[in-house]
Amino acid sequence: MLKGLLFDLDGVIADTARFHLAAWNRVAESLGITLPPAANDALRGRSRQASLDLILNYGPGANHFSADEKAALAAKKNTEYLQAIATLTPADILPGVPQLLDDAQAAGLQLAIASASKNAPAILAKLGIADRFSAIVDPAQLQHGKPDPEIYLKAQALLGLAANEVVSFEDASAGVAAIKAAGQFAVGIGDATVLAAADLVVPSTADLKLATITAAFNREVS
Ligand code: BG6
Ligand code: MG
Repeated sequence: MLKGLLFDLDGVIADTARFHLAAWNRVAESLGITLPPAANDALRGRSRQASLDLILNYGPGANHFSADEKAALAAKKNTEYLQAIATLTPADILPGVPQLLDDAQAAGLQLAIASASKNAPAILAKLGIADRFSAIVDPAQLQHGKPDPEIYLKAQALLGLAANEVVSFEDASAGVAAIKAAGQFAVGIGDATVLAAADLVVPSTADLKLATITAAFNREVS
């Protein structure tokens, strides 16, 4: 029986994935690296450090940079990102999400955030929805990033739920892989080809309807 919903944040709750990408593109450009189109999905859901290594590997290679140089590049990216999210307001919650959260709470479902971002609590506060979630996984406490299942297993544990009692939402292929490795039902938001491993894919958050999701979950999991 469905008892909880686990949400990625960037690209699922708010359109902040584009701010991450823009800030990383500026870092890449400063190093003379041009990111290929595939980086759009590859960078989603990855920790700050893993994202930087991925970018450097599109250029001379991550091991050509010292730990101090990498820390400076990651800090530069985060400074730009913080400037971009400074103006977020509740109006920046993606379409369909407020209704989904309302319907989920009316149905008695528990809600949790499973985001790799250390900025997630600040973003939820700016969006005015921090109190909707009874658990927010702290990515600093994790050993492994997405596509490892650790973050989704941690989120379900914080809610006291089992894998067959939750639905998890992602916009990244690494995130969908993490959900499926955790044995949970995955809803992918975006390109059906990129997110083919998900149990249900919708083109945009505006298409997220609790009744449709619950019906698909009951067909597959029960
Ligand atoms: C994920 C984003 O949610 O958080 C990634 O999809 C980002 O793009 C990661 O790299 C880490 O975020 P932050 O805010 O801690 O640098
Ligand atoms: Mg995401």
